Amino acid sequence: MTKVIKKISEWKKIRNSEELKNKTVGFVPTMGAFHQGHASLIERCLIENNISVVSIFVNPTQFNDPNDLRNYPRTLDSDLKLLEKMNVDYLLYPEYEEIYSDNYRYKIIETDFSKKLCGAFRPKHFEGVLTIVLKLFNIVKPHKAYFGEKDYQQLKLIEGMCKAFFMDIEIVPCPIVRDEDGLALSSRNLLLTNEERKIAVNFPKLLKARMPNELIKEELEKLGFKVDYIENLEGRRFGAVHIGKVRLIDNVEL
Ligand code: PAJ
Repeated sequence: MTKVIKKISEWKKIRNSEELKNKTVGFVPTMGAFHQGHASLIERCLIENNISVVSIFVNPTQFNDPNDLRNYPRTLDSDLKLLEKMNVDYLLYPEYEEIYSDNYRYKIIETDFSKKLCGAFRPKHFEGVLTIVLKLFNIVKPHKAYFGEKDYQQLKLIEGMCKAFFMDIEIVPCPIVRDEDGLALSSRNLLLTNEERKIAVNFPKLLKARMPNELIKEELEKLGFKVDYIENLEGRRFGAVHIGKVRLIDNVEL
């Protein structure tokens, strides 16, 4: 049985209880609307720890676009079914008021890498991400936390934060899970129309192509994508595009 915890005080009691003493705690922070990408992180967490905690919190401070926040898929019932099936110990499902009792007066700001790639197109996005992740880490107090390489920039920024603030949490990077046709799984894929979903497959295909970035951008635009960026960094190619109202990101090793 997965125990659903809404109140932070309730979780703190459990975290400090005899039951969890000398146990390793693994943590998978999410915004819900689970797919196989989330499941792969959870599975790894279950294997590597005595106790597994998953959080679902659609974090408003990381959404720079109010429409994106409003439309973000929320599928709590089926999410909970998956957690039960996988035998996850705890679901943390906190409320905004409790998480942001400071009214977001306190935040974590990274001044360099967070301004690049997605940060250049989503102002303040990574401030919101780093702040919520720090809050959740301080609540859950995990030994290990699991993050997908799908959000590679997020992963690197969280690793950097842990190092900068001497946090004793092991960040475990997990490979990107893709659909059969190569599209990286994402909660936002649920928002694509059938037609858009068909076009979307060209995004990972072109990212992998042995072509200069400028040409990839042109090809994507011809297909109807609006391109935020296609950029190479540290042996990887990163991309962010819009199809209709949906923004997709991906990255591949070169
Ligand atoms: P969310 O988009 O729900 O993703 C939760 C975790 O699942 C992230 O670490 C993400 O990288 C990973 N993930 C998503 N799709 C994946 C895929 N196709 N393959 C592998 N891993 C995948 O990322 C967030 O939530 C939020 O920003 C959060 C860290 C929870 C802070 O609010």
